[in-house]
Amino acid sequence: MSPWLQHQYERWAPVAAVLRQQLPWQPACALITGSGISTALPGEVLWEIPSAALPGFPRPSVEGHPGVVQVRRIAARPVLVFGGRVHLYEGYDVSEAVAPVVCAFLLGIRWLVLTNAAGALSLLLEPGKLLVVRDVLNFSFRSVPVGLEGRGFRSLQLCAEWRHRVREQLVRRGFCWPEGTYVAVLGPAYETPAEVRMLQLLGADAVGMSTVHELQCATALGMRTFAVSVITNWAAGLQQHPLNHAEVLARLEQVADSLRHLLHTVVAEVPCAEG
Ligand code: HPA
Repeated sequence: MSPWLQHQYERWAPVAAVLRQQLPWQPACALITGSGISTALPGEVLWEIPSAALPGFPRPSVEGHPGVVQVRRIAARPVLVFGGRVHLYEGYDVSEAVAPVVCAFLLGIRWLVLTNAAGALSLLLEPGKLLVVRDVLNFSFRSVPVGLEGRGFRSLQLCAEWRHRVREQLVRRGFCWPEGTYVAVLGPAYETPAEVRMLQLLGADAVGMSTVHELQCATALGMRTFAVSVITNWAAGLQQHPLNHAEVLARLEQVADSLRHLLHTVVAEVPCAEG
C-alpha cells in the first residue's frame, strides 16, 4: 500500500469509527452531493449528523454545501450521503477532498455515486439537463498520489456496467439522458470564454470544479463509481450575462425531479447486500 493511502486510512479511521458506531445499517452505497444537490435527493432521511461532529472531517464553506452526513433510504437501500463536499479552491488539499471516499471504503462500502453541478460546453446540452459522466478530463493540475496499490497504473474509471444497466432501466421507462465527458478545473473563478473554447476543442461536454479526485481515489481502492453532472448554466461566454453561483443554485430546483428519478434508478442497480 502506498504511504499516502496508509496515511489516509489512519487519518480518517476515527471518522469511520464514529460512523460505524452510530449507524444501525450497513450502507449499500455512498453518495456525494455537489452544489445545491443535497436538496434534490430522493428517499427519506433515516439518520443525520453534522460533519462538524466528525473528528477532523473537512467542512464545506461554499453556499449549497450543507456539511451533513446522512443515511437515506433510496430504492429500499440504506445510502450513506455526504451532503456537500469540499473543494481544492477552498484551500483544502486532495487528502481532504477524498475524505468521504476513504471513510466510505473503511466502512466496507464499495459502490460510490458522485454528483456535481457543471456548466455546459457541448451545444447538445443546456441548463436544466443531466449529463451521465462517461469519461473525465483532469484539468485541475492536481492528482491523488494513491500509488500503485498492486493494480498497476490504473487510469481513472467509471463503471461502464453500472452505467449501462441504469441506461437500460431508464430507456425501458421512456427516459434517456445524454452521456459525455466532464472536465474538472481548479477554480474558483469560472472559466474565461477562451478557456471554454479550448475545453470544447478538447472534447469536454461539461465543466466543473470537483469529482475527479474522488474518482481517482475510488478507482485506486477498487470501488465501483457512477457520476452525474447537473447542468446548471452555459459555460462562460456561451450565455449573454456573466455567470454567478446564485444562478447555479437556482437551476437545481428545476432539475430536482429528474435528478431524483435518475439517482433512484442508479441506487436500485446496487446490490442490497455488499458484492
Ligand atoms: N464552470 C465551472 N464550475 C461550474 C460551472 C461552470 O460553468 N457551473 C457549475 N459549476
